Parts: sequence; structure tokens; C-alpha cells
Amino acid sequence: MSERILMKNVTKKYGDFYANNEITFSLQDAEIHAIIGENGAGKTTLMRILYGLEEQTSGSLYVNGKPVRFSSPTEAIKRGIGMVHQHFMLFPHLTVAENIVIGHEPSSAGLFNRKKAVSQVKELAASYKMTIDPTKKVKHCSVGEQQRIEILKVLYQGAETIILDEPTAVLTPHEVKGLMDTLKLLATSGKSIIIITHKLKEVMACANRITVLRNGEVTGSRHVDETSEDELATLMVGRDLKEVPPRAAQNGATHLEVKNVVVGEKGEKPTLHHVSLQVKQGEIVGIAGVSGNGQSELIQAITGLIPIESGDVTMDGESVNELTVYERRQKGISHIPEDRYQWGIAKSASVAENALMGYQYIDAYQSVRGVINRRRFRPLVTKWIEQFAIKTNSLQQQIDQLSGGNIQKLVVARELGHESSFLIAAEPTRGVDIGAMERIHEALIERRNEGASILLVSSELSEIRTLSDRIVVMFEGKIVGELSRDEATEEKISILMAGGTVHA
Ligand SMILES: Nc1ncnc2c1ncn2[C@@H]1O[C@H](COP(=O)(O)OP(=O)(O)O)[C@@H](O)[C@H]1O
Ligand SMILES: [Mg+2]
Repeated sequence: MSERILMKNVTKKYGDFYANNEITFSLQDAEIHAIIGENGAGKTTLMRILYGLEEQTSGSLYVNGKPVRFSSPTEAIKRGIGMVHQHFMLFPHLTVAENIVIGHEPSSAGLFNRKKAVSQVKELAASYKMTIDPTKKVKHCSVGEQQRIEILKVLYQGAETIILDEPTAVLTPHEVKGLMDTLKLLATSGKSIIIITHKLKEVMACANRITVLRNGEVTGSRHVDETSEDELATLMVGRDLKEVPPRAAQNGATHLEVKNVVVGEKGEKPTLHHVSLQVKQGEIVGIAGVSGNGQSELIQAITGLIPIESGDVTMDGESVNELTVYERRQKGISHIPEDRYQWGIAKSASVAENALMGYQYIDAYQSVRGVINRRRFRPLVTKWIEQFAIKTNSLQQQIDQLSGGNIQKLVVARELGHESSFLIAAEPTRGVDIGAMERIHEALIERRNEGASILLVSSELSEIRTLSDRIVVMFEGKIVGELSRDEATEEKISILMAGGTVHA
């Protein structure tokens, strides 16, 4: 094995801030090397330097032993380096094959040879056992398919080194397995892979080596055989992880009730079939299920974002069915939305402006009606930033400059900050690192112990099991099972999630 890539003492400064500080990183031939670290640790920055999207402030890069300096991705691609970004960059109206060959189209007599493109893509996909239909339009492709297209595109460009930035964040567990198999096959055929992730199980399952970053510096680099999930977690977070806080015994009255709710266009197959559910005070009810089985519709029906065809939603016995979204919020419903980019934030607004969304109506924070009293509000936001370790340069920074995990933490802090009696937490830790996950879990349990009712929707089974007092499973728009905290084994939940039956 020889060294394919060497990044030596690489530093990247943004103003006075060190995003990368004297990082040394190496990649061997046919190696899968994972880079892990909390949100904001500097992983993406380091890879953007390797791919020519950023120039380092100091330090050197070598490819196959030769010094290089890239001022654009084109130069990196010429040296065999390809990158699959966190957010895909495909043309939805073009076909799979067109997206893959773009910029390197096969031609005959000076014209684009579509047939050849299709057959080349077919062959390329087959050689790495990837299933994809080259003639399908990208807009009809699932997230998993889009990712395969991105990987194939990079391979088509002749990459020998492939960088994947958090590729598993958007995938279902089944798709993750498929990706891992693909990566292993690529490595077997001589490609070198760099995978950024913060899921330790995935790292242990696929990587040969792991490099851990924290605050822009390398805190450790290990061969997979000489480390453990615990050690990696400690290197990432810089401290030992805490236990989940103890749960106070609760036996509260029913706070939220969903009764026989049906959602869907008349005549069409309903997306919610007679769903009934109760959440008591001081209770976390977890909804498990593969995403797309009615969880989103259930949340929308409770929060008032979609109308229900029949049934009722009540709080403390009173129907909220006729109330608007805003009126339901006033009644004490908070919501950590599943898709934080679509619902959770205003992208072009500042951290402070996003933090106060929803607070402008609260008297205590107003100076004039509807105008926020910044002097009163600022300490609150500052407290959230500390409590959740939100990495931001200032309150005035535009929110979309923050990493995804830090945005998520801000949304969670803001919604918890309302101290409302009922909270919907949808995928509250999607895309966040272990340290942030721990803080969010802790905060949810604390709210529960204070008597709030929480409806947790998560596709992560481990999260459901860690937090829930009671677990209900949704499948094809119905509630197909309910389990107490003690009886809910991973196996039982999985069977119900797949539409099977569990015998008591
Ligand atoms: N263009 C930029 N300007 C200023 N700060 C930046 C810029 N890009 C990244 N950062 C900061 O650098 C740090 C590392 O970011 P990043 O490499 O994206 O982290 P990771 O990928 O590990 O989550 C973060 O604190 C981030 O806010
Ligand atoms: Mg990143």
C-alpha cells in the first residue's frame, strides 16, 4: 500500500477563526478512511480544500507523493479526486445518464451520443453492482438513487479518490447498507474513499482507518481494529458521555388526544386511517415507523397544517379542530419540525432573527406590540447558545452559514424555550453529532420531567427506545401496535414497522 493523498499541516483561517488548524491527514490506496467529528469540527472545510473549492491558508497537499495546489475542482478532478456533496447537485429535468456524463459527453460526429451514454452508464453501474435506470429523469429518483448517480458521476470522471460528505444522513437504514456495500466494492477495486460521518456504528462497520477532528484539530487517528465506539466518541466530544438523566415517575392526566382521525382526499386512499392516540402529562410517546407511513400527516393534523376528514384532536378534553395553526400554538403546542430547512428557519435571516421566530407575540419580550425587546430577548438566546453549544460567530451571522447540526440545535432550543405544555419533536436529532444529540435528549427528558407532554417522531429506533415511555408503531397510515417502554425490544418494534404482527 502506498500513500495516495497527504495533507500536511493544513490550516484554514476565516478571519481570526481557525476552521482547520495544522491538520495532517493521509489516505492509502484502496483504503476507506472515515473523518468524524462534531458539527463545526472542520471536516467539510478540510475536504473542500482537498477538492479545490477552498485554498488553505497554509500547509501542503501531495497526490501520489507529488506536491499539488488546487485552485478549482477541475484541477482536483484532473488528479483523480472526486467529491459527493452533502446536498446533491443534479439537474432534475435531465435523465440519470445525462447527469452522469455531463461535461464529458460521449459524441459521434460532433453530436451527443445518447445511446452510448446510456450503455456506458449501464456498464459502469453494473461493474459496481449499483441498481439504476439510466433513462429515468432525476426528478423521479429517490434520495438513495440520486446519491448513486452522484457516485457514478464522480467515477465517470475517472476519480480514483472519492470523498463523500455525510452520505448516510439522508438515507434509510436499508439504503445505508447498500451504500456501505458499494464503498467496500469500490475499495476492493482499488479506489480510495474518504467518508465523513458522525455515526460511529457505520464507521466501525466500513472504515479501515478513522481520523477524529475537534475544533479544527486532529484529536486522534486510529486503525479500526485498535479503537472502539467509546474511544471515538470521547475523542469527538472531548469528554466522557453522560448517562441519560433519570426519569421521574409520572402519572398525569391525558393532555392531547387524537380520536379516530382520518386524513386524505375523499375517495382516495387515506393517508391516516382512523388514528387514535393519547399523550399524558409528563409522558413521552414515541412514534416509530419507516418514514412515509403517515407520521408527517399525523403531525400536520395535530398542528393544524392540514385539515382532517373526520375525527377529532383535543387538548385537555377540548377540541382544537377548528383552531388555526397560530391559535394552536397559543394553546401550548410547540413543534420541532422534521424538515428544518423548509419549516424551521428563514434562511436569509440572522441567527437572532431566527431565534425569535414565534417570540414576537409574547408580551414579556415586546417593547411595543409586535416589536421585540432585544434587551430582554438577548440573554435568552445567549443562554440557548451556551446550553446547546451552538457554534456561531455572532447573533448577527446569517443562519445558513451555520452547519446543519447547529441550525437544528437552535430550532430545538427555540421550541423548547417556549416551555409549552405539548411538544412535537420530529426527528429532533437528525443530522446532529453525538454531543448535540446528548444535549437534545437531556433537554427533552427535562421538559418531560417538568410535566410537559411530548410526541416524539423518529426513524431512529435507538432514539425512540432511549426517550419514550410508550411506543406506538405506524405502518401504512395506521397505528399497528403499542408497546410499553419495558416490552419494546428492537426486534418487536422492527417487526411492527415492517407490517408484521407481534404476539404478546
Ligand atoms: N465560509 C466560511 N466563513 C466563515 N466561517 C466558516 C466558513 N465555512 C465554515 N466556517 C466555519 O468553520 C467551522 C468548520 O465548519 P465545517 O468544516 O463546515 O464543519 P463540519 O463539516 O465539521 O461540520 C464552523 O465553525 C463554520 O462555521
Ligand atoms: Mg460538514
